[in-house]
Amino acid sequence: MAVYTPADRDAPYLRLAAEAHPLPADAPAESYLNIPRLLEIARRAGADAVHPGYGFLAENPEFAAACAEAGLRFIGPPAAVLARCGDKAEARRRVAAAGVPVLPGTGPVTDEEVERAAAAVGYPLLIKAVGGGGGKGIHLVERPEGLRSAVRLARGEAQAAFGDPRIYLERWLPRPRHVEVQVLADREGRVIHLGERDCSIQRRHQKVIEETPSPAVDPALRARLGEAAVRAAQALGYENAGTVEFLLDTDPAPGGSPARPETVAAPTCQTCHMPEGDHAVRTAWGFLAVRLPLPEDKQWAADQTTILQALGVLDPEGKPTARFDLVKQADVARLTQEDWQKERERMLRICNQCHSLHFARAELEKGDQMIREADRLLAEAIRIVADLYKDGILKKPAHYAYPFPDLLAFHDAPTPIEQKLFVMHLEHRMRTFQGTFHANPDYALWYGWSEMKRALTEIRAMAEELRRAHQPRKR
Ligand code: HEC
Ligand code: HEC
Repeated sequence: MAVYTPADRDAPYLRLAAEAHPLPADAPAESYLNIPRLLEIARRAGADAVHPGYGFLAENPEFAAACAEAGLRFIGPPAAVLARCGDKAEARRRVAAAGVPVLPGTGPVTDEEVERAAAAVGYPLLIKAVGGGGGKGIHLVERPEGLRSAVRLARGEAQAAFGDPRIYLERWLPRPRHVEVQVLADREGRVIHLGERDCSIQRRHQKVIEETPSPAVDPALRARLGEAAVRAAQALGYENAGTVEFLLDTDPAPGGSPARPETVAAPTCQTCHMPEGDHAVRTAWGFLAVRLPLPEDKQWAADQTTILQALGVLDPEGKPTARFDLVKQADVARLTQEDWQKERERMLRICNQCHSLHFARAELEKGDQMIREADRLLAEAIRIVADLYKDGILKKPAHYAYPFPDLLAFHDAPTPIEQKLFVMHLEHRMRTFQGTFHANPDYALWYGWSEMKRALTEIRAMAEELRRAHQPRKR
């Protein structure tokens, strides 16, 4: 006999059932999640066992306990076992203690100990909800800077989704295969396994295709997986049919190798910049390559401050201007660490479709370093021109807010030295870092970096010339 809601009244399973009992409403709380109502139907119908199906109450320990209390056999593991498996940190601890290989990770962690625990697990890592499941409530943290905010977010989500704010940490694998092993356990502690399924083809953490036998598992690994699955089921005191899920690490060892499959095609602009297929082309640095908070490196922070002043985003004293709000609204620069980190991680995941994560991260960091080098040159050039305004040698154009070069007013730079500075910023600095990010070092060096060096030399010479020319008039 089966139960159904109004929306399911034509579902095929009802044709197979000898009896069909209606539930009054479609809302899950009124129907498939309503324990007293389901038990009442079972009692009236004279059922002696309950099969919970999947989803809804299928893994709910309270439902299993309520069935037992009502004298109905629950077809599945007992309530205590369901509770044990529902607490992911506890399940991890038990199977690890039974010698099943688990990824480096922790039990539930407090806010005080989370940094130390994370350092021990190693980055990148995942924050997972103790009460979680079904791929929900998982957060990837690439580096220590992102940990605090991700923990806060993960706790809030875990509380909202599972009513339990506890979290634990686990090592992240960049490109794992998902291989699961079916087990059957009787009530006497006898457990067998039925081989593996490869569920690596997923969408939004949900399986799309299952393949068996797995193309990634050889007979020796199959034997080890089966043995580990049986041991995990025994460690949890499992009964009935169950699945033990494994991750197979496929990422090669850390190192400099691009580690891409020989057969992949090279990416297009859209692969990296429009992964969602819309026009929200967002990058960590943006095309201005400035960011807040400022970099930790003192010299670089000072250089970025100078550039932000020349963009009119900070005033010559270093305070935010009205243009700061415009930049914020136009979303052309990342103005918080989280925002920057999010875009960087997104890009890394794109690279990781074809390259190892280690390789991709090192490549993107080369781009960051190139911005730092370019900023050294540009900041010096800006200060040379700013000093000319300050010393009254160059006349500030009327529409500049401050006696400071305004790099956003590039179209009407009035003198050759200002023109040089604008081109240095707008063309050569961008080529320097974009060429590096686009894995085109020759372009970055020849048409970016060396042009910046040349422009700086010329700006120095022009400034000296202007100062010399100015002197006689002073006397
Ligand atoms: C392999 C991935 C990849 C491909 C392909 C790629 N880019 Fe990029 N691009 C990047 C990365 C990485 C950055 C720097 C991101 C950052 O700011 O951290 C970048 C930065 C940029 C920037 C400057 C930042 C911005 O937000 O404006 C522009 C413009 C740009 N790319 C345009 C293009 C165009 C046009 C193409 C195609 C001809 C292209 N890219 C192809 C990875 C790629
Ligand atoms: C769709 C697959 C794909 C993606 C995504 C991708 N790449 Fe590549 N990458 C390739 C291929 C293919 C090559 C080899 C191209 C060639 O040989 O002409 C390559 C080459 C490279 C190289 C040159 C390596 C060498 O052998 O010298 C670098 C550096 C690189 N990629 C970095 C990146 C970074 C950084 C990202 C992310 C921003 C990225 N790639 C994203 C497929 C990809």
